Amino acid sequence: MASSTPQEDRCSHEDFELSSGAIDPAEGSVECVLHGARFDIRDGRALCAPAYSPVPKFPVKLEHGGIWTRDDRG
Ligand code: FES
Repeated sequence: MASSTPQEDRCSHEDFELSSGAIDPAEGSVECVLHGARFDIRDGRALCAPAYSPVPKFPVKLEHGGIWTRDDRG
């Protein structure tokens, strides 16, 4: 069994989809196409303005050939 922490597909600056942004594998970041905020793809931290809050992340596990995750927010 392995684990990781996928992130929500929403920029914490103005709620734009991060999946349309470019990933920088060297830095381990994704850049929001709307205003250029970058986030660490491992833990969701905001790396530069205009975003200051992290991207929510979710627990996940890979088990028995499936990918399981959940959103514990209320
Ligand atoms: S919406 Fe992503 S940086 Fe502004």
